Amino acid sequence: MAVIHHENLGLFVLQTAKMDYVIHLSETGRLTHVYWGDRLPYPSDYPPPPQNWVLASQHANWPDMLAELPTLGGLQEVSPLLRTTFADGTRDLRLVCHSYKIAENELSFELKDEFYNLSVTARYQVYPDCNLFKRRLELTNTGPEIIKIEDALSGGAPLSVDRGDNFRLTHLSGAWAAETIVEQTALTGGRKVIEGRQNLTGHAHNPFIAIDVNATENDGEVWFAALEWSGNWRLFVEQIRSPFKLTRLGGGLNDFEFGWQLESGEQFETPWLALGYSSNGFGEMSRNLHRYQRRYVLPENFRQELRPVLYNSWEAVTFNVNEAEQLALAEKAAKLGSEVFVVDDGWFGERHHDRAGLGDWQPNAGKFPNGLNPLIQKVNELGMQFGLWFEPEMVNPDSDLYRAHPDWVYHFPNRPRTESRNQLILNLAKPAVEEFIFNMLDDMLARHNITYVKWDYNRIISEAGWNDAPAGRDREFWVRHVQALYRILDKLRERHPKVLFEGCASGGGRADLGALHHYDHIWTSDNTDPLDRLAIQHGYSLAYAPKTMYCWVTETNHNKANFSLRYRFHSSFMGSLGVGSSLNHFSEAELEEAAKLVAEYKEFRHVVQHGDFYRLTPLGRLEGVLAVQYLSEDRREAVVLAYGYRKHFWQNSTRLQLRDLLPEGIYRVEGELWNESGQHLSGQILMSRGILPKLSQGIDSAVVRLTLETPPA
Ligand code: DGJ
Repeated sequence: MAVIHHENLGLFVLQTAKMDYVIHLSETGRLTHVYWGDRLPYPSDYPPPPQNWVLASQHANWPDMLAELPTLGGLQEVSPLLRTTFADGTRDLRLVCHSYKIAENELSFELKDEFYNLSVTARYQVYPDCNLFKRRLELTNTGPEIIKIEDALSGGAPLSVDRGDNFRLTHLSGAWAAETIVEQTALTGGRKVIEGRQNLTGHAHNPFIAIDVNATENDGEVWFAALEWSGNWRLFVEQIRSPFKLTRLGGGLNDFEFGWQLESGEQFETPWLALGYSSNGFGEMSRNLHRYQRRYVLPENFRQELRPVLYNSWEAVTFNVNEAEQLALAEKAAKLGSEVFVVDDGWFGERHHDRAGLGDWQPNAGKFPNGLNPLIQKVNELGMQFGLWFEPEMVNPDSDLYRAHPDWVYHFPNRPRTESRNQLILNLAKPAVEEFIFNMLDDMLARHNITYVKWDYNRIISEAGWNDAPAGRDREFWVRHVQALYRILDKLRERHPKVLFEGCASGGGRADLGALHHYDHIWTSDNTDPLDRLAIQHGYSLAYAPKTMYCWVTETNHNKANFSLRYRFHSSFMGSLGVGSSLNHFSEAELEEAAKLVAEYKEFRHVVQHGDFYRLTPLGRLEGVLAVQYLSEDRREAVVLAYGYRKHFWQNSTRLQLRDLLPEGIYRVEGELWNESGQHLSGQILMSRGILPKLSQGIDSAVVRLTLETPPA
C-alpha cells in the first residue's frame, strides 16, 4: 500500500520504497504537514502535529505555517497555494477538509470554503518504485456566482521544519544554445522564485528545483520539485524563521498575467507537481526521476520502444531542401545505419528562408514537384522511416494563412505586432486555431507515410492579447494554449499511433515533464558542439532520462577544438543518437567510420536508453574527466562513457569507481581502458578499485562495456 491511513493518529502517509510523506487531518478538518524524509519503521516515529504557537504578533500561528494547503486567508506568512476573489469582493479563502478518499496509490482530500461555494480536491498519486509522488488541486464552483482564480499553484511542502541546516538550491538555467546548465546557490532567508513566463517552458530556466543539505552524487538528502507543464510556470523555495526555521518548496502555474474565471459548475485543474526525496544524493534523485519517466510519463505506445537512430538534414542544408538533394542525403544516411530520415524546415509554402511560409503547410511545388510521397517512398525503400518538421503554433505574416486570418495571432489593438524570427504566435485558445492545427496535421499524416514529427516552437511571446475572448477570460490563454497543445498531440497520437513526436523549441525550450507526457523525446539544444553539448547533456541528466534526450553528431565547432569524429559520436552516445552532419562532405573513410560507430551504439543502446544512469564524476564539474555509467535494470550489462573535458596536460585519465554492480558477479570488461580490457573482474573490485579509461592528452573519449559472465553463486 502506497497510501496508509493511521486512523487513531489522524495521519495519512504517502509511502514509497524509501520515502514517507505524512499529513495530519485534525478533527476540525485542518490539514497539516507532518513529515517528509526517509521511510520510517514505526508510526510513532513521526513528529506530532504542530502545537499552537505564535512567536509574536508579527508572525503567524505555527500550525498555519505548516498548512498542507495554505490559502490567502487569516494570518498567513508562507506562500499561499490558492488566491481567489468571490463575487462580493472577498479575497479571504478558508478551506476545511470534510472527507477523503484512498484508492490504491491515490489519496484525495475534499475541502470546502467555510462560507462560499468553492470546493477543492487536493489529489496525490504515489509512485512507490520512483520515491516520488505528484499532487494537484481541482477547484469547482458549486454556486451560481462567478469565482475568480487569481493564483492556483499545484502544491508546496515544508522539507524541514526545525533544523538549522545549510540548505542549497540546485536548478537548471541557461539560454538558447546553452540550456540546462547546473547552477547551485546557498539558501538564505526569504523567497526565491525560478520561473518561466514566455508561454513556453523556456531556455532560461527549467521547471525543476532540488534542495539539498551537503549532498554529493551518492550521499546526502535531496528534495526536488518538478512541474508537469509546458507553459508559464513558477517554482519557489522559501525560508522563514517563526518560531522555528522552516524551509519550504513548491510551485505550479505562474500567476504572472494569470487570471481564470470559474463559472457556476465549472472545474479548474492545476498541472501536476512531482515531489520526491532521496537520502542517497543527486544520483539517486536523478535515477528516480528517470525511472518515473520511463515507466509512467512517456506516451504509452512507444514507452518500451528504443528510440531510433535518426538523420536530420537541418544543419547540413538549412532551408535548401529539395527532392533530389534530400534523396542523395538519404542514401548516405541509410548507409550510416540511420533508421529515420527527417526533413526539417524549408519543405513547405514559400519557405526559402525564415521570412515566409510558416502556416502554409503544403509541400513547395518547386522543391517537391510531385509532393512528398516520391521521396517518402524512396526513403522507405532505403529501409528508413520518414520524419517531417512542423512549427504548427506559428505563422509568418508573409503567408497565405496570415493573409486569411490576421486575427488568429496574439495581439492588442493599436499596438504593433512584434515579430521575432519574422513570425507571430497563433492563439491556440481560439477553437478555430486548435481545429486548424489538428486538421492540418491529421490530414498530412493521413496522406503520407510519415512516422516521425518534429514539433518546433521558435519564439517568445509579445503583445500577449486575446481581444475577442469571451468576457472576462482574456488572460486565460496562458493556460488554454498549453491545454490545446496537449489535446492536439493526444488526438493525433490516438489517430496515428505509429507516429513518434519530437518536442523542440529552438532546441531545448520545451523540456519538462508535461512535454514528456505528450512527446516521445526532446531536441535537447541547437548547440551541437561536443564540449558545450556535454555540459548541456550533463545538466539535462539531472532531471530528465537519457532516452528522452536526442544528441546529434554534426560539424559544429564553437570551441575551435580538434574534435575527432569518434569524440563527436561518443558525446552523442549519452542519449538517443542522431546525425546531422553534411554527409555530402564526408569521405568514404569517414562514412565507413561513422557507420561503425552507429553500429556500436546500436549494440548497447538498450542499456543507455532503458538502464539506470550514474554520473561518475561530480555534479557540475566540467573540467578534467567527465564520465557516466548506464546499468541495465537486471545489472547484467553496463556501459561507461568517459570524456576528456577541458583537460590540462597533467590531467590524464582518472579511475572511475563503478556503481551498483552485483558485487559477487564476474563481469567481462571490454573497451578503451589502460589496464583492464579483456579482464574478468568481480563487481566488487570494479566498484572499489574501479577502471581506468584510456584517455590521452587533449580531447579524447572512451567507451567501456561490461557484461556479466558469471552471476553470483
Ligand atoms: C530550431 C530547431 O531547434 C532546429 O533544430 C531546426 O529545426 C530549426 N528550428 C528550423 O527552423
